[in-house]
Amino acid sequence: MFPRSREVLLGIGGGISAYKSADLLRRLQELGFSITVVPTRSSQNFVGSATWAALSGRPVYENMWSDVHSVPHIALAKKASAIVIAPTTADLISRLAQGRADDLLTTIVLASTAPLILVPAMHPEMWLNKATQENVEVLRSRGVVIVEPDEGRMTGDDTGIGRYPETSKIISHIAETVNSPSDLLGVSLLVTAGGTREPIDPVRYIGNHSSGKQGIAVAYAARERGARVTLIVANAPETQLEGVRTIHVKTAEEMHHAVTSNFKSSEIVVMTAAVADARPSLPSIEKMEKESYRNIELIPTVDILKELGALKKQQFLIGFAAQTGEDGLKKAQEKYSKKNLDLLFVNDVSGGAIFGEDETSGQIVDASGVIEDVSRVDKVTLANKLLDFASHKLGLPND
Ligand code: CTP
Repeated sequence: MFPRSREVLLGIGGGISAYKSADLLRRLQELGFSITVVPTRSSQNFVGSATWAALSGRPVYENMWSDVHSVPHIALAKKASAIVIAPTTADLISRLAQGRADDLLTTIVLASTAPLILVPAMHPEMWLNKATQENVEVLRSRGVVIVEPDEGRMTGDDTGIGRYPETSKIISHIAETVNSPSDLLGVSLLVTAGGTREPIDPVRYIGNHSSGKQGIAVAYAARERGARVTLIVANAPETQLEGVRTIHVKTAEEMHHAVTSNFKSSEIVVMTAAVADARPSLPSIEKMEKESYRNIELIPTVDILKELGALKKQQFLIGFAAQTGEDGLKKAQEKYSKKNLDLLFVNDVSGGAIFGEDETSGQIVDASGVIEDVSRVDKVTLANKLLDFASHKLGLPND
């Protein structure tokens, strides 16, 4: 459900400048990219796999013959939104031009439809050699992006064209090729998801139907736009969103604590969670007898969103309201002002609609009233609409 658009497969060729790709990897991560490294065998004479594993935080794929059952060359080829090979040696250029598949990296390239970006780096004689230049032309004619090498000092005493280019030059080629929006780059976003459960006794709780899908969709959409995302999730099924800091909570009190400890540093806060409005004042340590149900005393929980509204400074605060009945919109507008929000999404949940579904409908409300009617869109689309408003209001540059 959540395909990644900032997923780079970084191939490392066997050149002395392989160490420079460590910086490239870090800079790409800062821009919200996730990186899987596939080093060629000869590149490991320069930089070993331990470095790549530690920097990428992921397994490193070295050859065709590990994890064969998971068919890694096909899985990696499909997952990548771009393949970048840096440095690309003359030998790799030659093998790619011929369409060979004699190691894991070239096999992935052949099996993938993702854009291919090559970063050649070699001595000037090798780069300017007719054989290399003709291979480069063949690759260009197939749509491969070639980042021209820089001119300057080589490993030895010689100078000329063939140096590993400036990292920023490589990154702008990648950003242009992947072309994923990055208006929320570096913006910190806090989102809550799911529904809290308030214990009655060790077995039972007061809960609600929230599936967590809308909050998870917000986390996903924001991460795709480059935000640094913290997701606080209550009782939703495990969803692994790579690159999203996820905190699991169960009760309203735990959520309150997790939200307040992360609020100050956030710029956009989206409260999609269905927080229980009340909880049993004294949950029983022993399983309760049926007869005592009549006597469960409930006390209100903290209204987290209202508290945030009172505390907020730079934060753009988005609330959700699940309403039923005719005057739902009016009540939602009251909530908007009472909780000092910047944006509110009003769901009509009459008859249990929307809970657990992939689609949603409702109205986006601000101080001026309804600003958009949203009808049957998937929850990621709604997330992006809300983020568009936030991004616009915060004056973030359009991507
Ligand atoms: N919310 C919250 N803390 C609570 C209850 C709700 O932060 N204890 C947040 C929800 O995450 C949501 C918004 O408040 O973003 C609206 O929740 P809702 O329960 O519909 O609002 P209430 O003000 O509790 O209104 P009602 O009178 O319908 O209970």
